[in-house]
Amino acid sequence: MAWCEATNDETKDFLCSLRWGDLSGELVMDIGCGMGYMSTKCILQRFPRVSEIVAIDKDPYCIHRSQMEFKNDSYKKVKFHCISITDMAELEPWKGKISKIFSFHCISFVRRQERAFRNMFELLIPGGQAALLFVLRSESDDVYLEMMKNPKWSRFFRHMNDRKILKLRESDPTYYSNMLKQIGFLVLFCREKIIEHVFYDDEECKDVIWESTLLENIPRELQDEFVEEAFSTFLTLHPRNEADAALKISD
Ligand SMILES: C[S@@+](CC[C@H](N)C(=O)[O-])C[C@H]1O[C@@H](n2cnc3c(N)ncnc32)[C@H](O)[C@@H]1O
Repeated sequence: MAWCEATNDETKDFLCSLRWGDLSGELVMDIGCGMGYMSTKCILQRFPRVSEIVAIDKDPYCIHRSQMEFKNDSYKKVKFHCISITDMAELEPWKGKISKIFSFHCISFVRRQERAFRNMFELLIPGGQAALLFVLRSESDDVYLEMMKNPKWSRFFRHMNDRKILKLRESDPTYYSNMLKQIGFLVLFCREKIIEHVFYDDEECKDVIWESTLLENIPRELQDEFVEEAFSTFLTLHPRNEADAALKISD
């Protein structure tokens, strides 16, 4: 679960940077909660006095796993719902009732982002606030885009929509800040941060590739070759650091 621990660390750092008091008695929402042990748990650990966390995700499997994870009594405060943030009809029960919105590592996956932000605006009480953290560029995307230049691999990814990755690359904090202001948000803080991760060794880097959902597209007999090629592509794009023992990655 190393990748999850890394994203949870980012989430925890971000949560600690918020000057939101203890959110005692507040109704909050976690958008794109994933599997429960991810952002929702981090929010509950940081703000144990919230009244309730409404955690939504569009993926039924994530919601099922989350419900299993939180089935014991200590997590009664969290209610999971399988809903997309772009579907306001389903979100109607919480319209104008949420005091704080959290969304971590999710917005990059949402195609209709403007609609998602509009819905968040409608969900919030007057004066409510949203804290959003998401990836604009990642080095795994760099590797994917490079490998897709080779027909040997691109034939397995015909169904993938590269436009989403390329669009994120064109976007920057000003783009998001302007969009949010147009919707009606007062933007207090919007900036891009480079997060660097140093792999312990080559094997740790290869393990990340093995765990990647990209592998699902590759026939089993070609997976070893794909991982080796993805690893050498990664090294070409992002050379080793001075110590020569570890690699750098940022997202
Ligand atoms: C990388 S996971 C992040 C999970 C968790 N928030 C975290 O920080 O670890 C992204 C999640 O966003 C969910 N997601 C993507 N599009 C969504 C949408 N339109 N509405 C709700 N959830 C969405 C995915 O199903 C996935 O579980």
